[in-house]
Amino acid sequence: MRSCRVGERDVVVCHTRSGVYALDNICTHALARMSEGRLKGERLICPMHGASFDVSDGRVLAGPATTPLSVHTVRVVDGAIEIAVLESA
Ligand code: FES
Repeated sequence: MRSCRVGERDVVVCHTRSGVYALDNICTHALARMSEGRLKGERLICPMHGASFDVSDGRVLAGPATTPLSVHTVRVVDGAIEIAVLESA
């Protein structure tokens, strides 16, 4: 798991057994940086209060967060990770 900037967005990139995913790096509950949490399988766990999100679609798997994380489009080209951030996300 790594954090990076894509334009103005703080993004966390998660490499799991099923692929590479990019999500907003700021928890929707109280603004913790998700990249400082843990990645357990497909589950991204917030370091502050323990909310967890599915890395594939950003949905909340466990509270206290109730709003999903925005997910961005990722592709791997010749070993490089390319991320397309949706402005509306
Ligand atoms: S800041 Fe992430 S669960 Fe509270």
